[in-house]
Amino acid sequence: MGKAQGRNTFRTIVALTAAAVIPLGTAHAAEKVKVGLMLPYTGTYAALGNAITNGFKQYVAEQGGTLGGREVQYFVVDDESDPSKATENASKLVKRDDVDVLVGTVHSGVALAMAKVARDTKTLMIIPNAGADELTGPLCAPNVFRSSFTNWQPAYGMGKVAAERGHKNIVTLTWKYAAGEQAVNGFKEAFEKAGGKVAKELYLPFPNVEFQPYLTEIANLKHDAVFVFFAGGGAAKFVKDYDAAGLKKSIPLYGSGFLTDGTLEAMGGAGEGLLTTLHYADGLTNAKDKAFRSAYEAQYKMPPDVYAVQGYDAAQMLRAGLDAAKGPELDQAAMIKAMEAAKIDSPRGAFTLSKAHNPVQDIYLREAAGNQNKFVSVAERALEDPARGCRMK
Ligand code: BEZ
Repeated sequence: MGKAQGRNTFRTIVALTAAAVIPLGTAHAAEKVKVGLMLPYTGTYAALGNAITNGFKQYVAEQGGTLGGREVQYFVVDDESDPSKATENASKLVKRDDVDVLVGTVHSGVALAMAKVARDTKTLMIIPNAGADELTGPLCAPNVFRSSFTNWQPAYGMGKVAAERGHKNIVTLTWKYAAGEQAVNGFKEAFEKAGGKVAKELYLPFPNVEFQPYLTEIANLKHDAVFVFFAGGGAAKFVKDYDAAGLKKSIPLYGSGFLTDGTLEAMGGAGEGLLTTLHYADGLTNAKDKAFRSAYEAQYKMPPDVYAVQGYDAAQMLRAGLDAAKGPELDQAAMIKAMEAAKIDSPRGAFTLSKAHNPVQDIYLREAAGNQNKFVSVAERALEDPARGCRMK
């Protein structure tokens, strides 16, 4: 018996008792689904955590506050993007708050610890950002799903673009943790396959933003171009520093799209013209994106970014599962089966999940113009992470 089923025995009894007094047809609506949102609300990734929360809640609000006929009850933890606190934070949500599903998080290192709690306790988990390749690779699990990307995916798209643009010798710079290292690996795989060479890899500790020594080294190396992975507040600071050092004019800068998503305004123009690759862009023409964007802007008084989309789609995935969990008991096996088969009508474009539970999705080339990451072209169509080492049990 799955955890949800076991744990829901008590709730089933309560629901059956309640059914005796609630008129027929409304008993199901009295059921709740407990959602544990474990996201960063402070630190360099705070804006990302907020956008994911906004997107998730937007979808739930569009469904009248329920998913699959169940009222959504939130339990929220600020994970501070701190891996050392992750096990305790996730355990509290599972054991103290008894959540049915963990939704989180942004930082790959935190997500790796969180997913261990999910696997050990058989709690359903939906990752609305963290790209740690392992989570849909060697550590893949039936109860772990992702609405976002693997670190490999957008960076692989940029490796191909950089080679097509004629670059041969590239230096990379990123924070030294799973997301940065795996983005560099994805970029390198595509770039070197196309004949380029990653000549030097530079790293600094997360979330350090003292970029000056690295900028000096990049200037001295005189390579063709630079590829970086940065996101959130650190990304805005990096691009401003790169521009202020005079490097933007002389050494083209590329990144996976986290560099410029949600950060262009804070860059104050320093990001203008940057080319990045990501599974979302401004200026997509699908109807779902149009509706999503106008509702998001009306509600939150700002444009959505990729993180808001990933939060929205995490809620869509959960709804697909809950629609299949008929009756008062949360049948986790039925939920997993339905989520695996779901086609998600995402603002990024519809997607399905791979066998490893990761989106198979288009990767767009975008160009920064004003505060937008304008769609340029499809860099990779229906790109599926190779999910190396995933053996779904
Ligand atoms: C990560 O840690 O996986 C991550 C953080 C921010 C943006 C993208 C990936």
